[in-house]
Amino acid sequence: MEANIHITVEGQNGEIRQLEIPEGINLSLMEVLKASDYPILATCGGMALCATCHIHVLEGLENLEPHTDAELDMLDTLPDADEYSRLACQIRLTPSIDGLKIRVSGNN
Ligand code: FES
Repeated sequence: MEANIHITVEGQNGEIRQLEIPEGINLSLMEVLKASDYPILATCGGMALCATCHIHVLEGLENLEPHTDAELDMLDTLPDADEYSRLACQIRLTPSIDGLKIRVSGNN
């Protein structure tokens, strides 16, 4: 039986939701957030070029793959980015990120 990946999301209005994603669906976190009706434009289609998928990681940062140079360059352009910032389109949903907790950024 396949396990699920659990992600806790704090929305811009402070509402907290638990997302349960089946393991092995091969999507990015951005795609799942969009599908869950979070207001993420993703105008670049997940190429780390628009930064509209900016999120803050509240728990589980150590379980994520490191930033790519492209992601870091884009985060550098955001006034509200900090050391917990990531681009959701660059995060693949793998079992190792189970338990991730994020906040959707207010500037999407
Ligand atoms: S969707 Fe454009 S940077 Fe992530």
